[in-house]
Amino acid sequence: MPDTASRPVALSAEGVWKVFGTDAAGFRARPEAERSPEAMARDHLVGAVRDAGFQIGRGEVFVIMGLSGSGKSTLMRCLTRLIEPSEGRILFDGQDILTLGEKPLAELRRKRMGMVFQHFALLPNRTVLGNIAFPLEMQGMDRDRAEARARDLAEVVGLTGREHRFPAELSGGQQQRVGIARSLTTDPEFWFLDEPFSALDPLIRADLQAEVQRLQQEHTRTTIFVTHDLDEAIRLADRVAIMESGRIVQIGTPEALVTKPATDYFRRFVAKVPPARVIRVSSLMTSPEGDMAGEPVSADATIAEIAPRIVAPGGPLRVLDGQAARSACWTGKARCRPGLRGLTPAAKVRGRHRVGAARTAPRS
Ligand SMILES: Nc1ncnc2c1ncn2[C@@H]1O[C@H](COP(=O)(O)OP(=O)(O)OP(=O)(O)O)[C@@H](O)[C@H]1O
Ligand SMILES: [Mg+2]
Repeated sequence: MPDTASRPVALSAEGVWKVFGTDAAGFRARPEAERSPEAMARDHLVGAVRDAGFQIGRGEVFVIMGLSGSGKSTLMRCLTRLIEPSEGRILFDGQDILTLGEKPLAELRRKRMGMVFQHFALLPNRTVLGNIAFPLEMQGMDRDRAEARARDLAEVVGLTGREHRFPAELSGGQQQRVGIARSLTTDPEFWFLDEPFSALDPLIRADLQAEVQRLQQEHTRTTIFVTHDLDEAIRLADRVAIMESGRIVQIGTPEALVTKPATDYFRRFVAKVPPARVIRVSSLMTSPEGDMAGEPVSADATIAEIAPRIVAPGGPLRVLDGQAARSACWTGKARCRPGLRGLTPAAKVRGRHRVGAARTAPRS
């Protein structure tokens, strides 16, 4: 997992506001001093998104988390311009989409974005294949080609064998899978998912989270994922933005959020998360003395994931950082066993570099 800082910026938001209310149109003229929640409430204005600003790196999974009503969906809709922000700039590869005309905006959405909504509606009179193929047919692709692509995607999300069922003949989880497959038909660079799994039972949810991780790793996709579930955020995110009452109060890695929560509210919220589940090996390793031998562990692994290796007898653990591997040691601890998840053969071969080697390898 490359550092956020080492990724090129794919999407950025600058000073984004979304205000609802009878005089929302006049918001731009409002002076700074009149923009507090109290001053706005006096004038019957709701700041659903208040001065949001962040940059998302290419290939990053950026999770927006917050309680119900905190502004997550509104922010997501602003980013895709499904609703017009009241103020601010939203840049895709440096281009402000708020300045785009209708046609280039539609083009951008169709060709480069995929969206899964909180309550997305499948077309009831179309089968699984018909639903997945729909965006491609809208783009003018002929039916056979669109269905062939839809068939591939149905397989990707585990719906093989159910291609000809109608939505009413599918379970909730299967319907969600159709929505996910449909959002991927155009192989989007930007993938927006708004609480896609909130209505599902924990097992299906865990399955689909794993699916999202797999799809994310298959292609370099910039993913913006809304959830109110801390476990889901920790599992999926490179970084998480925490929203409270329309404001982003903290942005950081799951590890940073859990170890250094910015607000009292969030501190109480994360108090129950065991630190070993979020603290990564890269945070605790030290420089090695000389070359190290032994099977590696990933710098991105959590302490909980490598715990059995730490407690087993043996020497230090060798730590690799992605494909541009570096080595370091977890001193005084066990040599690890082979078969570490997520390490490529290339990483193993190139794993003799010293700590401090650049974290350059993008997730591919
Ligand atoms: N069209 C609208 N008109 C007026 N207020 C709105 C409108 N849409 C959203 N809001 C308000 O904006 C705030 C943020 O809503 P939003 O739907 O973004 O929250 P959310 O974080 O996605 O919540 P949830 O987790 O329940 O989906 C809420 O107070 C909501 O009532
Ligand atoms: Mg919402």
